[in-house]
Amino acid sequence: MPTVSFASLKKPEKGDVVLFVFEGREHGDSFRVINKALDEALTRAMDAEDFTGKHGQVCKLVAPTKDYTHVVIVGLGVQEEFSNDKARQVGGVAAKTLKHKTTALTVMVDWEIAEYATYVALGALLSVYEFNKYATEKNKKTDVKHLKEIHVLTSDFEGAQKGWGNISAVAEGSYLTRDLVNEPANHLTPPVFAKRIKELEALGISVEVLNRAKMQELGFGALLGVAQGSDAEPQTVIMQWKGNPEDKEAPVAFLGKGVTFDSGGISIKPAGGMEDMKMDMAGAATVVGLMKALATRKAKANVIGVVGLVENMLSGNAQRPGDIVTSASGQTIEVLNTDAEGRLVLADILWYTQDRFKPRFMINLATLTGAIVVALGYEHAGLFSNNDELSERLLTIGNDIGEKVWRMPMGPAYDKALDSQFADMQNIGGRDGGSITAAQFLQRFVNKTPWVHLDIAGTAYTGKGTNNGPKGATSFGVCLLNQLVKEHYEA
Ligand code: BES
Ligand code: MN
Ligand code: ZN
Repeated sequence: MPTVSFASLKKPEKGDVVLFVFEGREHGDSFRVINKALDEALTRAMDAEDFTGKHGQVCKLVAPTKDYTHVVIVGLGVQEEFSNDKARQVGGVAAKTLKHKTTALTVMVDWEIAEYATYVALGALLSVYEFNKYATEKNKKTDVKHLKEIHVLTSDFEGAQKGWGNISAVAEGSYLTRDLVNEPANHLTPPVFAKRIKELEALGISVEVLNRAKMQELGFGALLGVAQGSDAEPQTVIMQWKGNPEDKEAPVAFLGKGVTFDSGGISIKPAGGMEDMKMDMAGAATVVGLMKALATRKAKANVIGVVGLVENMLSGNAQRPGDIVTSASGQTIEVLNTDAEGRLVLADILWYTQDRFKPRFMINLATLTGAIVVALGYEHAGLFSNNDELSERLLTIGNDIGEKVWRMPMGPAYDKALDSQFADMQNIGGRDGGSITAAQFLQRFVNKTPWVHLDIAGTAYTGKGTNNGPKGATSFGVCLLNQLVKEHYEA
């Protein structure tokens, strides 16, 4: 990850410079200063390129003087609509434009709010993330430059510096989340994943691993049924960050679905695109990245993270359609489709977490349904909840920082779809409203605890690449949940 530093706004002597302009507004100091140094070349270039300052628009000048190798202008859009999300996007655009053209980038930010400058830097860091540890030939190439330093020049640089502790921790956590999600399933089995989580002990997080025997003792029949077809041992991992020992209130809890590979099981998935199902542990990876962020910045909050790690495979011992399992809550489940496995994993860890920790709330993240991708696409995660306050908080923060959620309906009428002929419930509710019936299923295991389920099947992984990163894992949720803790649950 490149380093980030903040300093006061002044004219850079040389190098690679990025500056920003709003659409339809007078230009700021940084523009005026550089434009003068370049003999008005910025104005000429913008005219020649019909550059109006639309959000994300780029105008690049190559070696305009012997001092400057590149000067890049990035449009901010209209000022009234600016937000941390927009700041993060343009930071990403800026860094992506020059990431293989220079090793050090100077970014000039002359709008007042210090927080925006930190989100510009976050966007820059996230956009240059790469996962190429297995591309041995590419790694041997030494002729491409890699961005190593980002220097942000901004009027309130002290304010930005102060805020950076929080945001740089988000970057750290997000990189870990992405590394875990992008890791192929032959390398990241549940036991390997658990070992990676153990490494967080170095940051002061306590980590406890429940193995198969322990889960059998606890009656995790739903989770263990999913794991049954795989040679890899399932693991439930409990992380605890006690950042506020004086706080006598209950901790908050985050839970994640960690299916390291989802073949569908005996209800096997079609071959096309099945490789993407290495990302079916993104919920768990997000919780792990979040815990890393919180510990890195020493958050003054008491936070539990729980992840259920299993591989959903086929074998002579795999779970069959029609099997009936008994969950940790005691409720029995008829497994009509072995591909609806995420809810089975979550059922046991949700029940266990509320029973053991009596948390203030539980928020679970899961790549749970294809149906949420049909409903919301890639822009919003689906939010399902029994609690309006928590939902509102997540909606507001998500819109501001650019990890957006959309509240979906719930209600007892949807429960009928889960009635089973032979057990307390069945694990699928048919095609219609598939994301909602999945949420109704989860709700049966939260026992009235304030709870949010985020279905991140459409947002956790991108086939395209965005302003904030390449194809693959997005780390959606790390910034959102870190900010939730920071704004509402910290001393
Ligand atoms: N892991 C999948 C959901 C998924 C789909 C995640 C696309 C990411 C992208 C989940 O386990 C699953 O298979 N869900 C089924 C449920 C169905 C059998 C009721 C689905 O969505 O088809
Ligand atoms: Mn599945
Ligand atoms: Zn799955």
